[in-house]
Amino acid sequence: MPMKVCKAVFPAAGLGTRFLPATKAQPKEMLPIVDKPIIQYGVEEALAAGCDQIIIVTGRGKQSIEDHFDVSYELEKMLEERKKTDLLKIVHSISDMIHMAYVRQKEALGLGHAVLMARELVGQEAFAVLLADDIIDAQEPCLKQMMRVFEETQCSVIATQVVEGPAISAYGVLDVKPADGRFDGRLFEINSMVEKPKPEDAPSNLAIIGRYILTPRVFEILASTPHGSGGELQLTDGLMALLREQRIYAYVYEGRRYDAGDKLGFLKATVELALKREELGDKFREYLKGLKL
Ligand code: G1P
Repeated sequence: MPMKVCKAVFPAAGLGTRFLPATKAQPKEMLPIVDKPIIQYGVEEALAAGCDQIIIVTGRGKQSIEDHFDVSYELEKMLEERKKTDLLKIVHSISDMIHMAYVRQKEALGLGHAVLMARELVGQEAFAVLLADDIIDAQEPCLKQMMRVFEETQCSVIATQVVEGPAISAYGVLDVKPADGRFDGRLFEINSMVEKPKPEDAPSNLAIIGRYILTPRVFEILASTPHGSGGELQLTDGLMALLREQRIYAYVYEGRRYDAGDKLGFLKATVELALKREELGDKFREYLKGLKL
C-alpha cells in the first residue's frame, strides 16, 4: 500500500522577537495578513492538499491559536442574532475546518526539536511540515504540488526556491542533482544540505522553503541526533542524517512566496494579497496609485 499524507505539523512555538512589541502578548502566528492570521493561510493550504489532521506545536503564550480554531459560541450567537450570516459562515468555517491537535514544546530548542514533539501524534506515517511564516500564493497549493511528487516517489520531499546573493545565508541550502527532468524539470535529488551557511560556503542558490513531506523515520533520527550550537536541534541536521538512509527530493514549486516572519516580507504579503481580494483589490489599487511614491 502506498503511503498517504494525512497529518500536517505546524511548529509554532517561536518567540516572534522580530515583531516585538506586537508579539509581546500575542503569538506571531496570529498576526493578520489582510484579515486572516498568518497560520490560517498554512492550515488552509494543508487542507487543500488533502490533509485532515493538523498538529500545532505550541508553547507558552500561544493560547489564542487554539481559541482561533475552536468554536466561539458567544461570537456565533451574536452574529446569528444580528443576522450577519456572511460573517457567521466565515467564523464557523474556521472551527469546522478539521481535527486539530496541540502539543507543547516546553523549551525553544530548534525546529528539529519542535518537529520531534509531534512524534506521538503522527505515529508511523509520512507527514507534512509547514512553517507558517512562509506564505505561498499559488494556483495549485504548494503542498498539493509536493503531494503529487510524494505519491509517485514515496520519498521525502522538500520545497525549494532560488535565492540570489548573500540572502541565501538565512536558509537551509541544498546541493542537488537533476532527477531526469521529471515533473517538468522541477524535481531534484538532494545530495547534501547545510543550515544557514556563509554565502561563500553555500553549495547552491537553492534555499529550503518551509514545506516538507517526511517519512516517519525522521523521528527516530531526530531523537538520536545530537543538539548543535546553542543546544538547538536543527531539522536540516536531522534531514542530513536521513539522507544517509533514504532518498530525499527537492521540488521547485510554482508560486509566489512571502516571508511573513520578516517585516518587509509581511508588508509585501499584506499589499499583494490585499490587491488580490475581490472586495478590496480595486479600491486598494486606486489608493496605492494615488500615493506620491
Ligand atoms: C527554517 C529552516 C531553514 C529554512 C527556513 C525556511 O529556518 O531551519 O532550513 O530554509 O526555515 O523558511 P528559520 O527561518 O526558522 O530560521
